[in-house]
Amino acid sequence: MAETKKLFIKTYGCQMNVYDSERMAESLGGSGYTEVSSPEEADMILLNTCHIREKAAEKVYSELGRMKELKIANPDLKIGVAGCVAQAEGEEIMRRQPAVDLVVGPQSYHRLPDLEAKARKGIKALDTDFPEEDKFEMLKARPKVKRAPAAFLTVQEGCDKFCAFCVVPYTRGAEVSRPVDRILREAEDLVDRGVREITLLGQNVNAYHGTGEGGTWGLARLIRRLAEVDGLERIRFTTSHPNDMEDDLIAAHGDCDKLMPYLHLPVQSGSDRILKAMNRKHTAQDYLRLMERIREARPDIALSGDFIVGFPGETDQDFEDTMSLVREVGYASAYSFKYSPRPGTPAAEKGDKMVDEDVATERLYRLQGLITEQQKAFQNEMVGREVSVLFERKGREAGQMVGKSEYLHAVHVTDDVEIGEIKRVRIVESGTNSLGGVLVS
Ligand code: 5AD
Ligand code: SF4
Repeated sequence: MAETKKLFIKTYGCQMNVYDSERMAESLGGSGYTEVSSPEEADMILLNTCHIREKAAEKVYSELGRMKELKIANPDLKIGVAGCVAQAEGEEIMRRQPAVDLVVGPQSYHRLPDLEAKARKGIKALDTDFPEEDKFEMLKARPKVKRAPAAFLTVQEGCDKFCAFCVVPYTRGAEVSRPVDRILREAEDLVDRGVREITLLGQNVNAYHGTGEGGTWGLARLIRRLAEVDGLERIRFTTSHPNDMEDDLIAAHGDCDKLMPYLHLPVQSGSDRILKAMNRKHTAQDYLRLMERIREARPDIALSGDFIVGFPGETDQDFEDTMSLVREVGYASAYSFKYSPRPGTPAAEKGDKMVDEDVATERLYRLQGLITEQQKAFQNEMVGREVSVLFERKGREAGQMVGKSEYLHAVHVTDDVEIGEIKRVRIVESGTNSLGGVLVS
């Protein structure tokens, strides 16, 4: 029997990294690793990193500085860096932090067992290729163990849109869609293991165009096929680009019961001038019209988005246009960020006039204030309403169970309910970040 070794993975960034971390843990399971929850007990530490903003990337180096100290207590400890910083910075990571034994980019995760074996022999291992072989097929099959009722499933990776601010096309590469049958197999396997909700992931998931029976399938067709899987009760997808929001996908929000009424559709700015400079290839009006059509298809849909403030050249008026757009849409939730120049991206290379830091901070503060107000209003509207909740875990207080509503609100009850059950719940209170309710008998 293979020797058992302990693996600690720390995940940064987006949900795709969460999914990748699971797959890496499963794949290293074949090399004798079991996952542990603290770095002190580990024989191997993997940081699965994010490069989307400077802050996220810099965190990696400070964390590596701390992890390095653990090598003093355990000289056999191996330290690896995976994810988007690994892809973007490659060997530079080993130069900046010589304690790193292994660097692996997102497209090479299936080669992780070989890289680990190399690192064990004391050879520095680096792989940031974009190989031809199908990494998902080659990653070790998921073991048949029961798992939490809500899971992620990557169906698409990479991006061909080249928004001027974004590193994704460089770190994750060109758009690739997984074939339909492999996704179906993986979904059925997840359902066998207790999963009832699947979130389909892709950097540009609504651009999905996988090979299926009879030709190329879009995301709507894939969702409708997944909806036929017995035992799979809820489907979500994230994250999307407005220009790929095709008619059949909008229609699916109206007529596919298993598709949850929540949509994350980033717009980034409400100013046409800035949208053009960002190379978004749509106007604010295009986006607003789209949101209207989605609401026509599914009137109760919870809408979400992403915003960047302080993009080079953003004037007060441009920012006010963003505020107006947010007021017009009325978001259930939204994420906003201060622009962070990323090496290699057109916006950073052009060296356009940066917005003054204090001005950008002030804008972010105002935008987040407005978003929080809308979020709170949407949450408060739930009081007195019935929602359906998939219960995922025990709560902090005795007897409390926590789950997610169809609108992605965290909902807690103190009734008798099992993890994995979906129940109707009447909402009775709206707290800071969650709703309280009682089961509808
Ligand atoms: N600076 C700030 N925010 C960014 N995002 C992507 N790139 C940058 C950047 N360079 C934000 C976008 C995107 C989300 C995932 O992160 O809003 O939708
Ligand atoms: Fe971060 Fe983007 Fe990589 Fe996800 S894909 S980890 S958001 S850089």
